Amino acid sequence: METPITIVIPAAGLGTRMKSRKAKVLHQAGGMPLIEHVVETALELAPPERVFVVVGRQAEQVQAAVRNRGVGFILQAEQKGTGHALMVCQERLSGQRGLVAVLYGDCPLLAVATLRELIARQAGSQAAATVLTTLLEDPTGYGRVLRDQDGHVRAIVEQKAATPDQLEVREINSGIYCFRSELLWKHLGQIQPNNPAREYYLTDIVEIFRRAGHLVEPFLLSDPSEVLGINTRAELAQVDRICRDRKIQELMLSGVTVEKPETVTVDRPVRVGMDSVIEPFAQVLGHSVVGEECRIGACSIVRDSELADGVEVGPFTIIHSSRIESGAHIGPYARLRMNTHVEAGARVGNFVELKKTRLGAGAKSMHLAYLGDAVIGERANIGAGTITCNYDGVQKHQTRIGEEAFIGSNATLVAPLEVGAGSYVGAGSVVTDPVPPGALALGRARQLNKEGWAKKRRAKTQSSAKHAEKT
Ligand code: UD1
Ligand code: MG
Repeated sequence: METPITIVIPAAGLGTRMKSRKAKVLHQAGGMPLIEHVVETALELAPPERVFVVVGRQAEQVQAAVRNRGVGFILQAEQKGTGHALMVCQERLSGQRGLVAVLYGDCPLLAVATLRELIARQAGSQAAATVLTTLLEDPTGYGRVLRDQDGHVRAIVEQKAATPDQLEVREINSGIYCFRSELLWKHLGQIQPNNPAREYYLTDIVEIFRRAGHLVEPFLLSDPSEVLGINTRAELAQVDRICRDRKIQELMLSGVTVEKPETVTVDRPVRVGMDSVIEPFAQVLGHSVVGEECRIGACSIVRDSELADGVEVGPFTIIHSSRIESGAHIGPYARLRMNTHVEAGARVGNFVELKKTRLGAGAKSMHLAYLGDAVIGERANIGAGTITCNYDGVQKHQTRIGEEAFIGSNATLVAPLEVGAGSYVGAGSVVTDPVPPGALALGRARQLNKEGWAKKRRAKTQSSAKHAEKT
């Protein structure tokens, strides 16, 4: 039978070295809060009822970031160190048999396979714990792993407490461990805050185990990038870059073409279908879902939006919280704001802005328009320069345009307004009253031509110029 595993994620600290008002684990890498990365990894290995996040600083916000994952939370009201973060879990978790894995909330790049291997090693060993370690060129800031002659872990010393010799050690503690449950809970209480920071260091448990006659095994990881811990914004940027590289690799391996991949930004939760193309400098962010055979143009930004199959997004287009149906074309230079729905085969061209608007299947708005709070029927044509005047200074109002309506260029549609199906609105009209289906609406001054007027005018201006010269 497989050994049951409980996962504890200490995430209660503020992260002083980030120099931020926001708790460290809420900062984002790869477009996702650090805590969400770690919780996602944990859930690959244990069911949500066996995953616990230790919260303290900004507990509310940290909980909110991962609440939908169904994991448990344990409050560490005062943060007295990583050892203390586990002490506050003892009452709730010490009854659980098997293994306890600890993953720090500020270490988001750990691969599931590595964690699986760590757990497997601990499960197959007599040791009290297995510690994930790696070798770093520059180990500054990390706890150093000291080994005995047999290669077991003898102690972990923190940067601040290490002697000059110990600081030379390049093998570091990743902060990821797997413990035998009963030994962890039995000895945890022996950790003392006897260090300059007056903190309870979880790492001190290594020496406590050794004194009690138990071994601690190292598991040396060859790829150090997996265990990069984030303590500063510079480290955050480094981890962010790795997250993004990984995401782009993953997309390319799943059949997405990414042009100049080093310039493209895709958030971790994003999904992109096969044979889609992402052009240079494009960004696909948040929880966006892009279908198959789409094209995201150069320098475009798509955030929290859904694109069905075969959608073309031209360059320099911004799409936010919107849905685009198959075969629609958006941009170049278009902007779709919140809750816009572009139906199949519709076209939105340059310098067109849509907000809370439904553009029916096959409808077109190709140039220079603002369509806000509007419902536009199928195959309607919205001329260049059309503006829906949706705001009266107090409230927003709707414009409804029926199917196959033809709105002439530079029409000003004053909402609330209903323009009937199949009707025409003359170019340059200001439309304030409903337009019946099939009608022509003209809301502009009638044109007046004065024959011969120009000649008379020139004669008049020339004679007055001569008069001015003489005086
Ligand atoms: C820790 C390790 C260090 C290791 C490094 C790896 C200790 C004493 N040191 O140092 O050996 O090399 O991680 O990244 O464990 N936390 C709490 N409650 C607390 C204190 C911390 O929940 O009272 C959480 C933090 O929110 C964070 C994690 O524990 O997610 C690690 O804390 P941090 O202060 O970053 O430890 P490091 O100094 O990085
Ligand atoms: Mg840290």
